[in-house]
Amino acid sequence: MAEPFVVESPDVAYSKDFIEAQYTYSTAHVCREGGVTKVRPCSTRFTFRTARHVPRLGLMLVGWGGNNGTTVTAAVLANRLGLSWMTKTGRKKANYYGSLLQASTVCLGAGPTGDVYVPFRDLLPMVHPNDIVFDGWDISSLNLAEAMRRAEVLDWALQEQLWPHMEQMKPRPSIYIPEFIAANQEERADNVLRGSKAEQVEQIRRDIRDFRASSGVDKVIVLWTANTERFCDVVPGLNDTADNLLRAIERGLEVSPSTLFAVASILEGCAYINGSPQNTFVPGAVELAAQRRVFICGDDFKSGQTKLKSVLVDFLVGAGLKTRSIVSYNHLGNNDGKNLSAPQQFRSKEISKSNVVDDTVQANPVLYGPQDKPDHCVVIKYVPYVGDSKRALDEYTSEIMMGGTNTIVIHNTCEDSLLASPIILDLAILTELCQRITFCTDSDPEFQSFHSVLSIVAFLCKAPLVPEGTPVVNALFRQRSCIENILRACLGLPPQNHMLLEHKMQ
Ligand code: NAI
Repeated sequence: MAEPFVVESPDVAYSKDFIEAQYTYSTAHVCREGGVTKVRPCSTRFTFRTARHVPRLGLMLVGWGGNNGTTVTAAVLANRLGLSWMTKTGRKKANYYGSLLQASTVCLGAGPTGDVYVPFRDLLPMVHPNDIVFDGWDISSLNLAEAMRRAEVLDWALQEQLWPHMEQMKPRPSIYIPEFIAANQEERADNVLRGSKAEQVEQIRRDIRDFRASSGVDKVIVLWTANTERFCDVVPGLNDTADNLLRAIERGLEVSPSTLFAVASILEGCAYINGSPQNTFVPGAVELAAQRRVFICGDDFKSGQTKLKSVLVDFLVGAGLKTRSIVSYNHLGNNDGKNLSAPQQFRSKEISKSNVVDDTVQANPVLYGPQDKPDHCVVIKYVPYVGDSKRALDEYTSEIMMGGTNTIVIHNTCEDSLLASPIILDLAILTELCQRITFCTDSDPEFQSFHSVLSIVAFLCKAPLVPEGTPVVNALFRQRSCIENILRACLGLPPQNHMLLEHKMQ
């Protein structure tokens, strides 16, 4: 496949199958010796190898019949078919706005007439969303066309055009354990698997194999966009190791549906992405993924309020203002909101939303002492009338110079599923790309993949899952730079440093 651009460098080689780049990774080590803090610049030579062949990707959604599941499927179809439709404000065309990869750009460098930008997706060979084949499961049996109507997200004139394409799509029966999601979901659960936990996991594995064989895709990724579950307890002997988790499934002990899906997916060698806040990835699931060298990533799509929070607090604290209080109110009227109106499911969301400023605050000991952090309160209410059009009201109060106070209030209204859908696509496409990247260093010359806990996708997640003992980054632009600079490294390009020194000389 022809690349949209080539890097001309002795450090970069293009072969039929690979792009191989030599890259020097420069960092600094800090230590304290003899009462002095010493900073030592250091560098490591990496070789990055990216397989150029882009596979045909199948994406299986758990919760396919939900607002996100139907909206992302409809959006991809509408883009693939090049659909447009009339609304009261004129004709709208299908697009991928909100997708980091499809709708944002990166700077390649300076050309004769200024900086040259390309779409993010052009950096390395990637799956195009139009080519993704969808399948999935839902505890509700509605076909995707009817489920799209139930979601009330897309304009009717678009739904009418999509109807014949989506009517044939039917979610596969799913694993339903009522105590994990709100009791108010029971009425839609008419498409559920029977049998023991082990039998249900086997069925999910068969479904994955069946989809792969019948659709002709080369690769399958499984993504949870079903209802938020309550957290489950991490119990020694039950789910703390891979063996214990597998044994717990055999014995029918407590394992959440999302963890059962993760296990089935990992055992089939398919990457598993968690778009909801619950702790699907109990230690046993993380260990199983590491043993099988399968990527897992999550948690919880970072779509609206949290995304803004991870920008605003970074901006405030980064500018030297001491943010003391963050209060977030949400109300929404979709089925997600209905599920979150139950206390245990709300608690999962509250936990996932609450740690988002920790790294920014901890990085500033000038403003914050070790135990010091802003008051942070999150409220979510279910108001059916507003449907998928979620309201988020935030108040940020910061201390400014000499005892002054600054209060910023923001009111955000947005269709939730139209924010989450491009994130689903980015997560799947980035995860697939990472499966084609291997690297080695001079001191460890055997090629390896990224850690099975794939933290590079943190930009897209509210509560990024990271390998144990490694730092969690929530600040949005640091997360974006991480993706951009790693993809640049795969091309032997230096990290984007924004110094513009060439324009700062006499
Ligand atoms: P939704 O309630 O419309 O869709 C969830 C679907 O999952 C429903 O169709 C339901 O029948 C199905 N379901 C429930 N348990 C299931 C199981 N065990 N197996 C298979 N299907 C099951 O919710 P929506 O709006 O699509 O959101 C989905 C998830 O994404 C929620 O957990 C939400 O918190 C999360 N999320 C959504 C964001 C957004 O902006 N829309 C942002 C961040 C997270």
